[in-house]
Amino acid sequence: MCGIVGAIANRNVVPVLVEGLNRLEYRGYDSAGIAVINAADEVRRVRRTGRVAEMAGAAEQEGLTADIGIGHTRWATHGGVTESNAHPHVSFGELALVHNGIIENHEEQRAKLTAQGYVFESQTDTEVIAHLVHSYQKQGMDLLHAVQHAVKELHGAFAIAVISKKEPNRLIAARMGCPLLIGLGENENFIASDVSAILQATRRVIFLEEGDTAEVTREGVVVFDDNDQVIEREVHVSDVSLSSLELGPYKHFMQKEIHEQPRAVADTIEAVVDNNGFGPELFGDGAEEVFANIDRVKILACGTSYYAGLTAKYWIESIADLTCDVEIASEYRYRKVVADPRQLVVTISQSGETLDTMEALKYAKSLGQEQTLSICNVPESAIPRASKLVYYTRAGAEIGVASTKAFTTQLVALFTLACTLAKVKGNLTPEEELGYLEDLRQLPGSVQHALNIEPQIAAWAEKFAPKENALFLGRGVHYPIALEGALKLKEISYIHAEAYPAGELKHGPLALVDESMPVVVIAPNDRLLEKVKSNIQEVRARGGEMFVFADLDSNFTESDHVHVIRAPRHTGVLSPIVHTIPVQLLAYHVSLARGTDVDKPRNLAKAVTVE
Ligand code: AGP
Repeated sequence: MCGIVGAIANRNVVPVLVEGLNRLEYRGYDSAGIAVINAADEVRRVRRTGRVAEMAGAAEQEGLTADIGIGHTRWATHGGVTESNAHPHVSFGELALVHNGIIENHEEQRAKLTAQGYVFESQTDTEVIAHLVHSYQKQGMDLLHAVQHAVKELHGAFAIAVISKKEPNRLIAARMGCPLLIGLGENENFIASDVSAILQATRRVIFLEEGDTAEVTREGVVVFDDNDQVIEREVHVSDVSLSSLELGPYKHFMQKEIHEQPRAVADTIEAVVDNNGFGPELFGDGAEEVFANIDRVKILACGTSYYAGLTAKYWIESIADLTCDVEIASEYRYRKVVADPRQLVVTISQSGETLDTMEALKYAKSLGQEQTLSICNVPESAIPRASKLVYYTRAGAEIGVASTKAFTTQLVALFTLACTLAKVKGNLTPEEELGYLEDLRQLPGSVQHALNIEPQIAAWAEKFAPKENALFLGRGVHYPIALEGALKLKEISYIHAEAYPAGELKHGPLALVDESMPVVVIAPNDRLLEKVKSNIQEVRARGGEMFVFADLDSNFTESDHVHVIRAPRHTGVLSPIVHTIPVQLLAYHVSLARGTDVDKPRNLAKAVTVE
């Protein structure tokens, strides 16, 4: 969603801002802008709807140069996609501000500021913050104090960066509910909502905490807590690699990330393999005590991460023998739930920023559910920081909006959790542990083998491309993989796709099946295979065209209307992970054939930081 970058230096920062905004593009946006204070101490601003490149071109044409500035990519919430709604917002030509998040009391603030003579040029909630800060400056406060006063009047979530021509030698930042970090350079410093925006300049970062404000000058950074007291915050060195932000030889980030999965899976299991077994210490300090004191599991997540949770339910119940419920975070956070202190609350989030998941976690904690674990791909992001325990997946930065390597590594982490809980609860024999460990060791190779079937899937994609609807079927632990396949196809090809447990077809969805309906079936050789085969017959009898992902020996007869691709290896209990690869590849190749924007599908954002 929205992205922020800011810089103060002894050089022209416009290229730094543009590069930062380019790096933030993956989060999803529909307009971009920068504002600077130039050598004549004037606020200059360039904004455009559409791509960062257009805005950067306009900035170049206008000859924008400055040694202090802020930039923003906007994903529209309050007000349409127009230049006047794009950030930065300016107050009285004196102050410029960018904002991520949502201000809930913006109408009340707008009325108050209008009465004071402020004229609004946009429909955004953000513009009220710019005028509010300006109104405090008018009362004689310096920029830092004006921001500190203004943010206390805001309800909602925000990360902001502000510059003022009255004080051209400092940037002010503030956060509440949305991530914001400070990048530390040599006689230059930066602000960003995401470390990728400033990696070209520095790896040394300070993550602001809830309620913090910061004064950023060329010489240094001073952070203030929510009581406006100076506070020391730890300096981290980011290990996000620049290469994970580059396409390399690939056409799209999604393609690159699909192909990175053998490495991502290997990195994520490294700790388990090095440990030569499952152990609570893999989940952080205190995990042994937490796991010993729980007797059920609740998983909260959204989208693809929710489907990872649905898959984990099968493993946690069958391997660890613990009851596991999985719930969509945005639903959980708004219902009355029965709190259970003996429940382990597991949140799953690639970004660690998803607002609904974060709020669900806060809600669970407010009910006294203290045993919390986060499975996350972004170190130091908000959700793991709010959790007692954490398991970081090591997928590396995921740029494509459609989640791929994050999903398979989440599954690896959740399988590890199931085995670890089983061990702590005395439900895992040494032989079983060795067997599961061996399955994990084999996994990167099996994922690589699954990637090798890409040419066959690309050929299927040609048949799919003209369709407008598709059904995905799976059974048992492969049903969530069917859901994930349908979501991937919807997200990037815009083909309407639904997934069902195959046994559920005859209870309604079978009515949709005719010759024009492609039906994807995930049919590994497990104990439900014969049931799936019967379900396939039900579809064939109605003329549906079948695309079956099977195992080596699933024994399917191919025909003009039954196409079969066989996984090159058996993977037993980890089969859902391997069967994810073909559905990802199918979505990718169908999207290519339809010519849609693979990495930046319409209307979607990578990190969903609003409701
Ligand atoms: C997946 O392809 C999606 N873009 C989306 O469903 C995503 O998984 C969801 O928004 C949750 O994100 P998170 O894992 O970062 O919390």
